[in-house]
Amino acid sequence: MRLFLLAANLLVSLVFTRAQNDTIATDDASASRVFIPPPVTKDLTSRDGTNVHAQSAGNPKGVHVIFAHGLACTMAAFDPIFEDKLLLSTLFMVRYDTRGHGLSGKPLTPDFYTSDRYADDLKAVISGFNLNKPSLAGAIAADIAANFPHPLPFSGLIWMAALPYLGDILPKVATPLVLSFLPGLEETNDATLALKTRIDFVETLSANTDSVPYSTKLAWVGSTVYLPPPVASLALGRSQDPTRLFEEGAAGWPLLILHGTLDRQINGTAVINNMAPKFKNVESHLIKGAGHIPFYDDESTISRYLLAFIARVKVTKPYP
Ligand SMILES: *[C@@H]1O[C@H](CO)[C@@H](O)[C@H](O)[C@H]1NC(C)=O
Ligand SMILES: *[C@@H]1O[C@H](CO)[C@@H](O)[C@H](O)[C@H]1NC(C)=O
Repeated sequence: MRLFLLAANLLVSLVFTRAQNDTIATDDASASRVFIPPPVTKDLTSRDGTNVHAQSAGNPKGVHVIFAHGLACTMAAFDPIFEDKLLLSTLFMVRYDTRGHGLSGKPLTPDFYTSDRYADDLKAVISGFNLNKPSLAGAIAADIAANFPHPLPFSGLIWMAALPYLGDILPKVATPLVLSFLPGLEETNDATLALKTRIDFVETLSANTDSVPYSTKLAWVGSTVYLPPPVASLALGRSQDPTRLFEEGAAGWPLLILHGTLDRQINGTAVINNMAPKFKNVESHLIKGAGHIPFYDDESTISRYLLAFIARVKVTKPYP
């Protein structure tokens, strides 16, 4: 999910709110009584014509949340969240492959990787699924803040193991290990190095990589292969201006930071130290023993914090 963020999790989740509360579950027992329609997959078209591969799941009457993954992952990284019955019965969740990744379009020139194009993809997702007041997590938060009017039409922002944005923050929060993967992810001449780097990268996603099933690792490596090396360069080389993000944070745009203590790609303590002071309404949690896909290593804790944050934001007066 930015690079690490870049790696996979840079997830951005946008929380949309404002749903009817008549069928909202509050525990597993009531969750099992809520009718959940099957997931709906759509290929949407962004303003510049780029395909946006997206999927919704959950309770259509639930609060709206959008999940955007980070570098070298795909929307499939969110499988643990999209298989959680309580989340499915409480939320209406949408995930999508960010441009260049997965089954979304992979343009090959830098003009397709500007901040506004990423925001356009999100606009296509919002209108494609009729979402109302989303929230967002990960490196695309800066793209959203820079390209939507104030106040942002997103109820809140959630960073799960996210790189806050691409820029000066990178060396402060990215580990030397993940930085060492970048050349290999971008390598276009040495196929041996390019492929080996993708496998090494995947080995740093879970805090318990030795116990991740082989088939799961193969799927994660597969996700990285859907990101062509030249596109990895374009995605990593783009610039984001966090000015508006910080303005919205100072104005009270709610932020939830969830980060594993054993994240080998992004240092959660550094993220919190650098970012929390810029947000007036911020809640952060370091999750013991979780790695760079915290909702893989400890899905139930992530789910609990997500639901509590969403419930709190829903009853709070919208900022500013
Ligand atoms: C939703 O919750 C509010 C506040 O608890 C309540 O006043 C309202 O009647 C509920 N709406 C529905 C449709 O149940
Ligand atoms: C993470 O960042 C904090 C704060 O900058 C620092 O004290 C800590 O040593 C870092 N952890 C690692 C594993 O580098």
